[in-house]
Amino acid sequence: MKKTLFFAFGMATLMMGCTSADKVTKNTLNQEEVMNRLSLEDKAHFVIGVGMAGFSGDDAVIGATKNLVPGAAGTTYPLDSLGIPAVVLADGPAGLRIDATREGDSATYYCTHFPIGTLLASTWNQKLVEEVGQAIGEEVKEYGADVLLAPALNIMRNPLCGRNFEYYSEDPVVAGKTASAYITGVQKNDVGTSIKHFAANNQETNRMNTDAHISQRALREIYLKGFEIAIKESKPWTVMTSYNYINGVYTSESKDLVQTILRDEWGYEGTVMTDWFGGKDGAKQMWAGNDMLQPGKAEQFDSIVAGVKSGKLDEADLDRNIQRILNLVEKSPRFQGYQYSNKPDLKAHAAVTRQSAAEGMVLMKNNEVLPLKENVKNVALYGCTSYDFIAGGTGSGNVNHAYVVSLLDGLKNGGYNVSDELKSAYEKYIADCKEARKKEIEEMAKKDKQAAMLARFMPGTLPAEKQFSSEELAKQADASDLAVITIGRISGEFLDRKAADFNLNDSEMKLIQQVCEVYHKVGKQVVVLLNIGGVIETASWKELPDAILCAWQAGQEGGNSVVDVLSGKQSPSGKFTMTWPVKFTDAYSSKNFPIDEDPKIDMMNQGQKGNVKNVDYADYEEDIYVGYRYFDSFDVPVSYPFGFGLSYTTFEYSDAKISQKNDIYDVTVTVKNTGKFEGKEVVELYISAPDNKAANKPSKELKAFAKTRSLKPGESETLTLSVTAPELASFDEAASAWVVAEGEYQFLVGASSQDIKATLTANAKSFQIKVNDVMKPQVQMNLLKR
Ligand code: BGC
Repeated sequence: MKKTLFFAFGMATLMMGCTSADKVTKNTLNQEEVMNRLSLEDKAHFVIGVGMAGFSGDDAVIGATKNLVPGAAGTTYPLDSLGIPAVVLADGPAGLRIDATREGDSATYYCTHFPIGTLLASTWNQKLVEEVGQAIGEEVKEYGADVLLAPALNIMRNPLCGRNFEYYSEDPVVAGKTASAYITGVQKNDVGTSIKHFAANNQETNRMNTDAHISQRALREIYLKGFEIAIKESKPWTVMTSYNYINGVYTSESKDLVQTILRDEWGYEGTVMTDWFGGKDGAKQMWAGNDMLQPGKAEQFDSIVAGVKSGKLDEADLDRNIQRILNLVEKSPRFQGYQYSNKPDLKAHAAVTRQSAAEGMVLMKNNEVLPLKENVKNVALYGCTSYDFIAGGTGSGNVNHAYVVSLLDGLKNGGYNVSDELKSAYEKYIADCKEARKKEIEEMAKKDKQAAMLARFMPGTLPAEKQFSSEELAKQADASDLAVITIGRISGEFLDRKAADFNLNDSEMKLIQQVCEVYHKVGKQVVVLLNIGGVIETASWKELPDAILCAWQAGQEGGNSVVDVLSGKQSPSGKFTMTWPVKFTDAYSSKNFPIDEDPKIDMMNQGQKGNVKNVDYADYEEDIYVGYRYFDSFDVPVSYPFGFGLSYTTFEYSDAKISQKNDIYDVTVTVKNTGKFEGKEVVELYISAPDNKAANKPSKELKAFAKTRSLKPGESETLTLSVTAPELASFDEAASAWVVAEGEYQFLVGASSQDIKATLTANAKSFQIKVNDVMKPQVQMNLLKR
């Protein structure tokens, strides 16, 4: 790559202060003038990032930008002489990811590790998600970043996807609404977001080169729908295309996706960027309307310059993309001259993460053990992760946080006594396991530096659970009032989870069995806590403990949040946004998912497209039958259904009614707290289309949801859930249209997808909304039908 060739033009000519109607002074850019002054090479530089140290780019340019906010994922290309600064782009979904320390600087730059995306979605509380987004956005702004590379809302197609923890749901309405609230919150700070990964980034195995073969219907109804909802509702400043191909075309090279669907159909006006090193052909990416290529490679620069020179790429396309990047720069705090403090309110944000995490935990079972009774004072804590709590997943979804409150500390903070003997035994065991892992990576680094670097970035194997003799357990049971066992899982970028990661291993099984047996023998109860990022097997052991709480990976205040729930300070009100299958292979997508395959890590995307099923391509043969759409329509038993979650209290649903005005169906339902604790309830609204089996539609599909305020015993609240007529439509490939079939629709008011409290009906007239006939699969697939 060549260096940019600017002369020092007076910045003032291109950057002007102007007063808008609301009297806020905004700096604006004289874009026309900028465009006039750019050579072709300058343009090609500007549409790609500055590169990544050690991988691509010009060291001088990287050097000039990397210290703006050390540890940020990248920046836009600076044109200093034109007054165009490098705009800082930083991950990610669970909080801002930047370096916590800087060379020669004694200050620290820790960020708050908020709960993972899956937990946030499990709150089903858009207001709360918006508040979390707002807190994250404040850290983005006060640490001097401009765009947060989040939220991530790919559909949880299969339980084993390694990045499911960053994602929200198997359902596009939950995913889209959660993302929309998150974006609104972050962008309230006048910083940007990048909704990602657009689209169908549903596996990590060979993520740079895998081709997702998807029917047009499944694309529209499932994989694009969440993006459509979030983008239309909350206008993210940027969209990040995914690594994968869809139906033979890289998403970042797909004009059908990036122009026709995103911009022409959905009206998106922001900037589109690639995922890091995503796609290959720079000229094609420009033509498609993928405005910015991050972090940029020499091949892309060359392809753009050669493309314009040869006429393969119209310079007007390049100019259009540049203007969209300039719009982004112009809005950025950096261009606006915002004086950031490097002092976000970390204390206030710790309170935000603590409270939001507690609300997204899902109570799976409770045989009158929770909330803990007053006579429970001494807790015996089992499971390595109880002492080494996992705040979130690894990779770009990680956050450099100052601390993580373990369950041990959370219990102590909550006034419980924890067995010291167990604590010392576990701490030694964990330290030994970590030392062994460190040595393993050091050895690896001697042979292969890049492998060692990746190993540090990727999820390590968690230690096998420590085992105890029956005598030891009996002694501990005697000295305590209750046992808590934490089962932990960690996953992250580059790798899908292995089958073994879904199942409990022998050491975990044995621990649960033995602890339950010994404690129950002396009349003491056992709680299992899940500190996980994705679903695991539960059917074979869930009968054993007295209670199960899914705490997810709950961010840096995790231990405190869990104890807020265990102690009854806050009743759990989270519900699952995905199905928990009995076996992971019960999900129909498992036929076409890379199970235990070589991950094929290709950082710079230098590999080629191969033909290994599920690795180089995946046939989405389950079609629209993802998650509960499959399990419920085909009567396949599950361990926990979509939308499920218990509370410390009970709720009664009454007075469900439906009214129809013009295009809008309003369902109202009164929810009364009939139990003894204060709590919130999530209400889910599904629709069931007429003759759905014959029409090959799911037996039910979620269309809306709402959550009550915190109701005291005896209190009730009437909720309204609205569905518009177009939302009743299914995608008809032959007509290339969203089609509403005439007839009587059932509106199912549920506490979960399998706990329907009221069934209402309303009629719809038939109509169609035509869209473009694009993104067709190039291969024949054997699609699942009812
Ligand atoms: C991830 C993105 C992330 C980017 C920048 C990529 O590897 O897929 O989600 O935003 O890196 O760190």
